[in-house]
Amino acid sequence: MKKKTSPETATAQLTVNGKTVTFPVRVGSENEVAIDISRLRKETGAITLDYGYLNTGSCESAITYLDGEEGVLRYRGYPVEELAAKSRFVEVAYLLINGRMPDAQERQQWSSLLNQHSMIHEDMRRVFYQYPEYAHPMAVLSAMVVSLSTFYPELSQHRPDEPEEAITIAATRLMSKLRTIAAFSYKKSIGEPFVYPRSDLKYCANFLNMMFSSPVCPYEIRPEVVKALNVLLILHADHEQNCSTSAVRLVGSARVNLYASVSAGICALWGPLHGGANQMVVEMLEDIIRRGGSVKSYVEGVKTSKGKELLYGFGHRVYKTYDPRAKIIKQSCHSVLKALKVNDSMLDLALELEDIALHDDYFLARNLYPNVDFYSGLIYRAIGIPREMFTVMFALGRLPGWIAQWKEAREDARFKLQRPRQIYVGPPRRNLAPEHVSSEVDEAPRRKHTAHAKRKA
Ligand code: CMC
Repeated sequence: MKKKTSPETATAQLTVNGKTVTFPVRVGSENEVAIDISRLRKETGAITLDYGYLNTGSCESAITYLDGEEGVLRYRGYPVEELAAKSRFVEVAYLLINGRMPDAQERQQWSSLLNQHSMIHEDMRRVFYQYPEYAHPMAVLSAMVVSLSTFYPELSQHRPDEPEEAITIAATRLMSKLRTIAAFSYKKSIGEPFVYPRSDLKYCANFLNMMFSSPVCPYEIRPEVVKALNVLLILHADHEQNCSTSAVRLVGSARVNLYASVSAGICALWGPLHGGANQMVVEMLEDIIRRGGSVKSYVEGVKTSKGKELLYGFGHRVYKTYDPRAKIIKQSCHSVLKALKVNDSMLDLALELEDIALHDDYFLARNLYPNVDFYSGLIYRAIGIPREMFTVMFALGRLPGWIAQWKEAREDARFKLQRPRQIYVGPPRRNLAPEHVSSEVDEAPRRKHTAHAKRKA
């Protein structure tokens, strides 16, 4: 157990250029300790420098608790394992956004609101046809989400006094429409007609139906697949101040609307070091097969590459132990494959890779364990989702977290424009050499001068 820090007595002292300053210490509800350096620059003239923000907290938040050493993840206090076992994704989304689980009536209202807002404007639907068929769905998703602010402009400016109702409607729209946009972008990429949302289907079943049914072939919605999708979305629903969530908060701090902020989050998530890793894992496994299937030699290649090659789906900035989400996903992967009678040789390869890495000094010394992205792609594959869509699935899951974090930030009286400083290391002041002075800039005053001289004459 961690030693308890008393928030009343804890302080931190720092001496800069001979001046000692005492800073207050903030202690979180799980005894996390932060030195509040808000007055640092004013008192000492110095700033902090922290590449990658390894030691920097950007806010206080009541949404998600994560202990990377112990492998703990809780949403609003509830363990993610319990939520994954006993809840549906839409309830968890409600929990994250509103701070409490919905009661029976609220659950009903929330579901019907999500149904009510599931269609997208017909003009927006036509926009899909303007993208080339090879467009990556994450690019389409991000562009379509920012476009929502043009079709539904009730939140065109993020004013501090925005009526609560407008925010609730925008959040509901986004929750419901992202699912439709995601499914439409897939249908567009395979050249099939769009399938509209159905109000008789629940959130995940509705999404699967939009993805996989067609006018000639109805899709059989299997409860095992719906369950697996619910679990995956729940496990992705929030992860405190990760790269995409920080992007949502940072962009939102300029008081831009929710759609634009989430669109920025989608772009950040796309990166292979973040949510894009789920696509990279399957591509890596395919690469191993192409190279002859030797996992051992692939791992050796990663180790000797000096950081140039990575074992995708391994390692995490915060978890220094097995990612609790990966544990659940690995289990779910086995059950889904069994239920669907899918025999995927990639699962055997992934298990072998994990086993080798978990017993290798290189990975052990660096605390590199499987993360959320290691097994998720194998479930998506089994249920028929193509790999370009994997990160879109991550975005679908992460959306309630982005909304909750965006809302929490704007409701915080201390929320400021996020604008880090820097240490300038470029050249000191200097002047342009005569040969660098632009002739155009030089000519303009001369012409003016000539005209002036002529007039004078
Ligand atoms: N494979 C091989 N080596 C690795 C890996 C990996 N996946 N991850 C880190 N390392 C090595 C790295 O080269 C470095 O070695 P050295 O000390 O010799 O220079 C050491 O481990 C520390 O790595 P780091 O890059 O300083 O650690 P980080 O906290 O900045 O990186 C990470 C975290 C997730 C970016 C990184 O582990 C990584 O690139 N993993 C692969 C991509 C991936 O799976 N991303 C998904 C993360 S989970 C989903 C999400 O929430 O984003």
